[in-house]
Amino acid sequence: MTETPIRPSIGELQERAHGEGHDYAKGSPHIRHHSVRERVISAVHTLVGEIVDRGGQCRLLEVGAGHGTFTDHMVAAGARVEVTEMSGPSAAVLRHRFRGSPHVTVTHDPEGSEIFRSGPVDAVVCISVLHHIPDYLSAVNHLVGRIAPGGAFLSMQDPLWYPRRSGLSMNADRGAYLLWRLGQGQWGRGLATRVRRLRGRYDESNEADMSEYHVVRQGVDEVALQKILAPAFQEVRLQRYWSTQSGVLQSLGERFGPPNTFGLLARNRR
Ligand SMILES: C[S@@+](CC[C@H](N)C(=O)[O-])C[C@H]1O[C@@H](n2cnc3c(N)ncnc32)[C@H](O)[C@@H]1O
Repeated sequence: MTETPIRPSIGELQERAHGEGHDYAKGSPHIRHHSVRERVISAVHTLVGEIVDRGGQCRLLEVGAGHGTFTDHMVAAGARVEVTEMSGPSAAVLRHRFRGSPHVTVTHDPEGSEIFRSGPVDAVVCISVLHHIPDYLSAVNHLVGRIAPGGAFLSMQDPLWYPRRSGLSMNADRGAYLLWRLGQGQWGRGLATRVRRLRGRYDESNEADMSEYHVVRQGVDEVALQKILAPAFQEVRLQRYWSTQSGVLQSLGERFGPPNTFGLLARNRR
């Protein structure tokens, strides 16, 4: 009799990739580089500011907050924030960080089911999260349904859809990643992951393949997301920009490189 291997849940895989002591800044251009970080912070302030000016309050759901790098900015802009986080250790950091804050509630969400709850919110923010969610289109569809009239949706820091990108864009992106990755050690592991990805074979028990779900596969489809958002909001703005881990290549790419990453800001829910 052959034994069927027990597949870890997506929550367990996210937790392995974002375990205790995880450094969210290390591989994250939007935390490491001032220009990308400011882009995210400015979008957060625009979104929360408009809603607070109009309605006097902003009930915001932040999906996958990590260690809460951007949550403080949401609070500073005037939001009451519910943060969700799939990884238990990261949720514990969030609870500790925001203990005693009347403006932040933390929900540990190992199943990713909080997204599919009902209950109105004024804004939803996903920063570097959609590419972790296998069925991100249905997640966004559902989240949009929860946003109250006048509300907004913001997603930042996902890889542009690979099949729509030029060879130059893909090669610059992959080359920049490879150069940075060489400086990180663990080459054997890095090489094995690279070979699997090139062959289009994914290991369902390996967090490198499963947690960065759409980075490893085809990127995130910005046009499909726009199609979901456009009928529901009065304005949908797509920002394409360059982001990479290395500081030098970030500066070079901002000047000369083609965009590889995107953000979407949808305002004024109908
Ligand atoms: C790349 S990190 C980004 C963290 C944070 N937003 C930031 O920008 O620093 C992605 C985070 O999303 C969490 N995550 C992935 N899928 C999730 C889901 N469906 N619900 C809640 N959290 C999720 C992961 O555990 C991880 O901490």
